[in-house]
Amino acid sequence: MDTTKLPKMLYGGDYNPEQWDESIWPEDMRLIPLAGMNIATVNVFSWAMLQPNEDTYHFETLDRIMDMLHKNGIYACLATSTGAHPAWMARKYPEVLRTDFNGRQRKFGGRHNSCPNSPLYRSLSTQLAAKLAERYKDHPALLLWHVSNEYGGECYCDRCETAFREWLRAKYGTLDKLNEQWNTRFWGHTFYEWDEIVLPNALSEQWSSDRTCFQGISLDYTRFNSDSLLECYKLEYDAIKAQTPDLPVTTNLMGTFKGLDYFKWAKHMDIIAWDNYPSMDTPTSFTAMTHDLMRGLKSGAPFLLMEQTPSQQNWQAYNTLKRPGIMRLWSYQAVAHGSDSVMFFQLRRSVGACEKYHGALIEHVGHEHTRVFRECAQLGRELDSLDTKLLGSRLPSRIAIMYDWENRWAIEYSSGPTIDLKYVDEIHNYYRALYEQGHQVDIVSFEEDLSPYAIVLAPVMYMVKPGMAARIEAYVAAGGKFVTTFFSGIVNENDIVTLGGYPGELRGLLGIWAEEIDALFPGHHNRIVMKDSLGNLQGEYKCSILCDLIHSEGAEVLAEYGDDFYKGMPVLTRNRFGSGEAWYVASSPDADFLQGFLGALCDSSNIKPLPGKQPGVEVSLRSREGRSYLFVLNHNAAEVTVELGEFAGVDLITGTAVSGQVPLAGCDVLIIEQFA
Ligand code: GLA
Ligand code: ZN
Repeated sequence: MDTTKLPKMLYGGDYNPEQWDESIWPEDMRLIPLAGMNIATVNVFSWAMLQPNEDTYHFETLDRIMDMLHKNGIYACLATSTGAHPAWMARKYPEVLRTDFNGRQRKFGGRHNSCPNSPLYRSLSTQLAAKLAERYKDHPALLLWHVSNEYGGECYCDRCETAFREWLRAKYGTLDKLNEQWNTRFWGHTFYEWDEIVLPNALSEQWSSDRTCFQGISLDYTRFNSDSLLECYKLEYDAIKAQTPDLPVTTNLMGTFKGLDYFKWAKHMDIIAWDNYPSMDTPTSFTAMTHDLMRGLKSGAPFLLMEQTPSQQNWQAYNTLKRPGIMRLWSYQAVAHGSDSVMFFQLRRSVGACEKYHGALIEHVGHEHTRVFRECAQLGRELDSLDTKLLGSRLPSRIAIMYDWENRWAIEYSSGPTIDLKYVDEIHNYYRALYEQGHQVDIVSFEEDLSPYAIVLAPVMYMVKPGMAARIEAYVAAGGKFVTTFFSGIVNENDIVTLGGYPGELRGLLGIWAEEIDALFPGHHNRIVMKDSLGNLQGEYKCSILCDLIHSEGAEVLAEYGDDFYKGMPVLTRNRFGSGEAWYVASSPDADFLQGFLGALCDSSNIKPLPGKQPGVEVSLRSREGRSYLFVLNHNAAEVTVELGEFAGVDLITGTAVSGQVPLAGCDVLIIEQFA
């Protein structure tokens, strides 16, 4: 989707008028534009209304909603409603119901409740998408398609089991190959017939959703499940595209959600859209990282913030209100990282069921004289004044962090060496060290072209997929700086260990080998003792979780362990390789180490931080056609003085020229267009 063609930044959110009396609709149409909103996501959960039985469709209510939106100058992000099937369907065709991890077939209820491999679910959902596309293809309100809603969850039914066997057959070709790649001689699990293979759940190989006896089958099931749901999405996508080839189609993703390989999904989405629900104590760097991950799904293309709450959620244990100014600040944070929309769940609170206490533009009182409405309306005026300036702009970066869903699944399915290793946390540690120093980062897939980057970080690259080692070697040989860490280069794409010493295929590049891996108890640490200083990095730091016991075989040793029987063994190494450098960090270091280390790497690559960075203040830069926009977000409650250095321009929110030292109130934001 080319967002540069949009008339304005998209501002709006989920709107479910079919859930309340039509007499209220005119008031909705007064209030939504009053808040400066221009888009409504409609028809997200209306399947039962649209299709009361197998042979009947009723589109009249949706027709009225679509017409009403158009009449009031509001675009429709039109959803297909297939995220929850109707009750009659479950009764008539129990095959549409999922079977859970414990092997129980579900009854009707909840949402995300349809078996992705049910032929009936697939045909009925695709048929609905096709009918919607046919009916609304020329509707003037229609801007964007929204397939289903927040895909996720698993099914362990017999149909999925059969489909899994077919998926495996396509992947491995022969059972010999499968037996070898799953190492089924372990515990005598050799398969002689495809039909002997059953799904890995509580009835078979897994004792919990993330603990398994056989990583190979569990990993493949997770891939298969992601592919099965993607297949459902693609069927609807194709049905829609057949009618409206030029309209963008998306679905709402969930950031670091574990279950789906979003890099694979992204290839079938016209624009990335995602739902941002941080808790009030989520670090701002974590949210920033998640936005960057979503931007990375399409190699840096702008994305849509599809949902966030204007005030509070309902599904957390304690649903704290976003304090005054926070909704605005976090909205701009999304824009700062590449969003071309600010959208909410939801525009009006419902009267019943589990989301009635979820925040909304229009509170239960029903009028505009509320804090939340005022804050939304203020943001609406500001976004309106930004006009088309930021649309389509990108975030230039010379630093990339590699991220991979399959790698995460494999790490977290691993039985040993520790249960404390959480892939996303390790990624976040590295991200945060750069964020805290004002460095802009791209998060990229294992397949991404690395040549634009001066520095590539690959924390815990446990799984090395075919061809990857050679690509990384070529990148480093050509002058790149590559950093990887403990527990890397261990297995192939099926979790089979690469023999001959860790880090396997990366061993030549890194110039080290790891003999053993020590797991530390919670609260325990070892020490990283620097041999000399490296930039600001000197003295000692702590490290924890895992310690690789490594030997140098050519790499320069910059730091050694300070404790235990492996005291004196290397913990930080650099191997010169071609014109570049390959670094190994053999444990999980503390934040001070990472800041010093990454600061030194950036210095040596002549990468300067963005202006305006200080504690609690976030900075980012978007640019388009030679124009640059610096975002400065004050996450502190108190006012700060921002130091802009040589950066000078006009603050797009206030229209005033800013340069040098600029006061910035608590929770406030600057978006500075640099003087030409
Ligand atoms: C998700 C869903 C919405 C709604 C919100 C509530 O993001 O997509 O339908 O349930 O959560 O936070
Ligand atoms: Zn199923």
